[in-house]
Amino acid sequence: MVKSSKTAKLILDGNEFDLPIMSPTAGPDVLDIRKLYGEAGVFTYDPGFTSTASCDSTITFIDGGKGELLHRGYPIDQLAEHSHYLEVCFLLLYGNLPTPAELEDFENRVTNHTMIHEQMGYLFRGFRRDAHPMAIMTGVVGAMSAFYHDSTDITDPWQREVASIRMIAKMPTIAAMAYKYTIGQPFVYPRNDLDYASNFLRMCFAVPAEDYEVNPILSRAMDRIFTLHADHEQNASTSTVRLASSSGANPFACIAAGIACLWGPAHGGANQACLEMLREIGTTDKIPEYIKRAKDKNDPFRLMGFGHRVYKNTDPRAKVLKRSADEVLELLGVNNNPLLQVAKELEKVALSDEYFVDKKLFPNVDFYSGIILEAMGFPTSMFTPIFALSRTVGWISQWKEMIADPQVKIGRPRQLYLGETPRDYVDIEKR
Ligand code: CMC
Repeated sequence: MVKSSKTAKLILDGNEFDLPIMSPTAGPDVLDIRKLYGEAGVFTYDPGFTSTASCDSTITFIDGGKGELLHRGYPIDQLAEHSHYLEVCFLLLYGNLPTPAELEDFENRVTNHTMIHEQMGYLFRGFRRDAHPMAIMTGVVGAMSAFYHDSTDITDPWQREVASIRMIAKMPTIAAMAYKYTIGQPFVYPRNDLDYASNFLRMCFAVPAEDYEVNPILSRAMDRIFTLHADHEQNASTSTVRLASSSGANPFACIAAGIACLWGPAHGGANQACLEMLREIGTTDKIPEYIKRAKDKNDPFRLMGFGHRVYKNTDPRAKVLKRSADEVLELLGVNNNPLLQVAKELEKVALSDEYFVDKKLFPNVDFYSGIILEAMGFPTSMFTPIFALSRTVGWISQWKEMIADPQVKIGRPRQLYLGETPRDYVDIEKR
């Protein structure tokens, strides 16, 4: 961030305060209010951080108006088309596209860490069989700090690197194990001769009695889902990871906090909620009833998979996934299934409805990813774990960037207090 020569003036009770203006390489200027409380004695108020930059970053840029998403400057549609997930991981982590030698080295490092400590299997067995895989992932990833304490010293760059690689490599294994556990099938060990996406599909769908032949179109679609979810700048779960790590917590604990935050239906949980909604709607004739409910201020129902805090034109990830969805459904011969008919009709109706058009609500990434994952054979409960494994690299890249910043301070927001002013304690018998 470059300090510009411009300043903003704040006039408060007749006193003037100059607020420096920071100019980013892209996006709106930012008022620097760090000294505001010290100089003017006031806080700013911004619940939900709708106008607040919580950090500076060089990783991801979103222009919500244009529907643009860039990783280290590269547009997401180009990455989804020409790159693949592990290359995008390298880009997010280290800032540039890798040379062939760098990519080979990175892929080897990730591949060599895909197995998890054998004793961690007992942890899985401690969960109820009907536990949600996100509950299992939150617990197991948090527990990695107990199994890999040789990479928890955040002051050591080498340990930070090892922790990062471990998490990117092991997350598919952990997500697949969470799935296998909940359906009562034996865990399938990773196979290092397979690419990242194919290995994940095999760990989910193979059984000891019968191996799983990975279809390259499905593996490409899986890789694309990973790529499109890899990072999204300062969203709720990423901000959670940054806030948790600002206290000096270890990386596994911070990523577990991110997973917990992602689970919510307004964030990563929306893909599961969206498919459940499509099932509840059931048939296209019921769509008008649900559209009416979504528009009713007195009804908490929202169209899941629609709307976004930042994108107010189009979600560029959704555009890519829509194409992918068509390919996968064609391949699997399920493009006429009733759920898909409901999804297609709902999209059409919502996109032409005044309420949705005026509020700029359109299908987001979760709308299409759910449809693809369902067609691939994943149960809805696995949708958010797949989002979590994809987003791990984004959380880690943001975490690494933050730890390496010498200016970093513990995150400690202030508040607008509206409670009681001091009052005397009243003995219980007098209340
Ligand atoms: N259905 C019906 N109305 C909606 C919807 C929706 N999906 N989303 C927003 N609105 C309305 C909302 O009621 C509000 O109306 P009004 O101005 O009359 O009060 C207006 O649109 C603005 O909504 P908001 O809640 O102030 O917007 P936000 O930026 O705080 O919320 C959101 C963004 C994504 C949480 C919200 O659109 C939503 O809940 N969508 C459904 C859940 C979803 O699909 N989430 C996935 C987001 S993409 C992946 C990710 O980031 O994890």
